[in-house]
This record gives sequence, structure tokens and C-alpha cells, in this order.
Amino acid sequence: MTTSPLPQPKDAHRGSLACVGMGMTLGSHLTPLARSHIEQADVVFAGLSDGIVEMWLHRMHPDVRSLQPYYQEGKSRMKTYRQWVELIMTEVRAGKRVCGVFYGHPGIFAWSPHKAIETARAEGFEAHMEPGISAEDCLYADLGIDPGRFGCQHFEASQLLFYERRIDPAGYLVLWQVGLVGDRSLGRFQTGPAYRQVLVDLLSQDYPLDHEVIIYRGATLPIEKPRVRRVALRDLPHVPLTAEETVVLPPSQPLKLNLALQARLDALDKLEKANTVA
Ligand SMILES: C[S@@+](CC[C@H](N)C(=O)[O-])C[C@H]1O[C@@H](n2cnc3c(N)ncnc32)[C@H](O)[C@@H]1O
Repeated sequence: MTTSPLPQPKDAHRGSLACVGMGMTLGSHLTPLARSHIEQADVVFAGLSDGIVEMWLHRMHPDVRSLQPYYQEGKSRMKTYRQWVELIMTEVRAGKRVCGVFYGHPGIFAWSPHKAIETARAEGFEAHMEPGISAEDCLYADLGIDPGRFGCQHFEASQLLFYERRIDPAGYLVLWQVGLVGDRSLGRFQTGPAYRQVLVDLLSQDYPLDHEVIIYRGATLPIEKPRVRRVALRDLPHVPLTAEETVVLPPSQPLKLNLALQARLDALDKLEKANTVA
């Protein structure tokens, strides 16, 4: 199989950065181009959610450095993510060809890859993001959802609590990181039922409490099947939820015709028709 050429550093001593996605499922989601970036790097940093996937990555490159140990209960994730950027940039500045490998898509709900690329470019280094198959992509396939049918909003669950946002219940609502919703310290690995109850109270302004909520976990190993649980919104606080699950609310209301704009379009259509006849 041929792939488009990798970006070449202008000279051998100039560092460069590629942040690539590993996809969600071990062995089946890695693109040929992402694999080339990994194999041709001098040093590889791994931000993966699964130890087995990290072992698989070690078979592709002799110098894989895990970013996982920088996470600690009680330590702000922002501090961890800044450390990741510094670790990556130290090697880029030393003239290395660096590859950061992140599970799913490296640019979806992932701060460090965007920041590292921005920093590298600001310092004059070549930097590139290579997309991967994200939890979102798997969710559409496994749950049979087409985001184009009714529209689809995505929110980091805590952001819904921290800020005033407008939910459109005529479309799908996808909530990320519900397992740690409401954590303002950024230092907890999970929050409990009381925090999820705050989320349910907010959602109940737009959805009935018996509305179906889908709790989804895509497969990360080829031997696994996706896990799909359907519960009533009122029960969301009381079901066990892991950090690797995404919550989907199907639409609760039908699409409403915008009569004012339809009238404007009618008038335009008539004008066009009249102009064509004339
Ligand atoms: C920090 S984000 C990383 C997302 C990742 N970059 C991607 O492309 O999917 C973590 C969130 O992704 C979602 N997630 C992670 N693994 C998942 C899985 N196996 N199935 C479904 N959602 C998952 C959850 O909402 C989780 O809280």
C-alpha cells in the first residue's frame, strides 16, 4: 500500500513533531500514515488508555515513553497535560523527530496534542496532526446514529454545569467525561452519584426523567464487543460509570418547522421562477 510522503525536516538536526491517533480498537484502527510517523520517529510518547495497546506500540518502536505515570489522584490534569507538552517539546528542541501517539483521535477532547503542535509551530518547528478513529466515530457505527439526521451536539459534561449552554433536544446530545462530571479540582479520576444528580437536574429542564439515556463503551480490544446500556435519565446517577464511557441522549422533541424562513424561501423560489420565465 502506498501512502503520501511524510513531512521531512528541512535538515537532519531540526526537530519535528507529529501527533497521531491510534484509533480505539487495538490492531484495527491504526492508519498506514500514522504507523509511518511512529516507525520513522526518533522518540515516541504514548498517551494511551490501555496497557495492552501500549505493549503493542512497543513492538513498533524501541523508544516508547509512556505519559500515563504523570497522572496522579489529587494532581490537576492541567498540570499533567502541561508536563506532557514540556516532555515532548524538550525532545523536539533537541533536534529529534518526535511522535506523540494518543488513543482515538489526537485532537478530540485532548488538550496536549493541540498545545504541543501550537508550541512547536510557534518556535519554528514542523508539526502535524494525523487524525484517528475516535470514540465518536465508533459510537455512530455501534449505535446506528447519523449525526446529520437531526443534528448532534457534543459537550464535555462538566462544561454543561460550569457554563450556561443551550441544549437542543430535537437533536442528539453526546456527553463526554460523565464519569468525572462536576470535578472542579481537575484532580479526581471520578465523581459520584451526587455530582451526576446535578447533571440530571440540569438535563431534566429539557428532557423528561423517563427519557432514554444510552451509556456507551466502544471496544478497545478486538476480542471485546461494544457495551451499550440503556437507562432512564432519572437512573443515571445510580448506575456504575467508568471513565471510558460516553453518554448519549437521543432527541426528545420533533424537529419544528421554521415557518418564517420557509416563507422567505417560498418568496425567493417564486422570484427565481418569474425571472426564469421572463
Ligand atoms: C479525554 S477524552 C479522549 C477522547 C479520545 N481522544 C477520542 O478520540 O475518542 C476521554 C473521553 O472519551 C470517551 N471515551 C474514551 N474511551 C471510550 C470508549 N472506549 N468508548 C466510549 N467512549 C470513550 C469518554 O467520554 C471519556 O470520558
